[in-house]
Amino acid sequence: MKNAVLGVMGACLLGATVNLAQAGEAVDQLLDSYRQQGVESFSAEQGAAFWQQSFDGRSCTSCHTADPTQTGLHQRTRKPIEPMAPSVNPQRLTDVKTINKWFLRNCKWTLKRECSPQEKGNVLIWLQDQ
Ligand code: HEC
Repeated sequence: MKNAVLGVMGACLLGATVNLAQAGEAVDQLLDSYRQQGVESFSAEQGAAFWQQSFDGRSCTSCHTADPTQTGLHQRTRKPIEPMAPSVNPQRLTDVKTINKWFLRNCKWTLKRECSPQEKGNVLIWLQDQ
């Protein structure tokens, strides 16, 4: 009985570790590709500022709220959006394809253009610690 309990606990710990490793990996992979595109360094402070910045009345906070640990609300569909912060939503920032897909869509909606590698890197560095 004791062994079974320890086994389950061990599996949970292992699961948690694997998940964290993936979150870091996906972000690291993206940051590497931005570096290859010429970005020299990233700033979490600028990432936070970018999140709040208004582009003709639209911003990342329009749908995600200013606090990434909170549930957002889609401005067009009015559907709730699960929190962006990995600390409360460990699924976030674990998949390169998902991140790229949403960056493309959300940047076009918000800025009417794609985000630059610098802007994306800053946001990721800031967001991964939220
Ligand atoms: C019009 C609404 C809307 C706006 C504005 C918006 N997003 Fe999103 N975003 C979404 C939706 C919807 C999803 C996917 C929902 C889900 O996975 O629950 C998403 C997902 C994401 C993801 C994927 C995270 C992951 O790993 O699952 C990132 C990163 C992201 N948004 C960043 C941004 C940034 C940066 C901005 C500002 C430039 C922004 N979003 C503005 C609606 C929006």
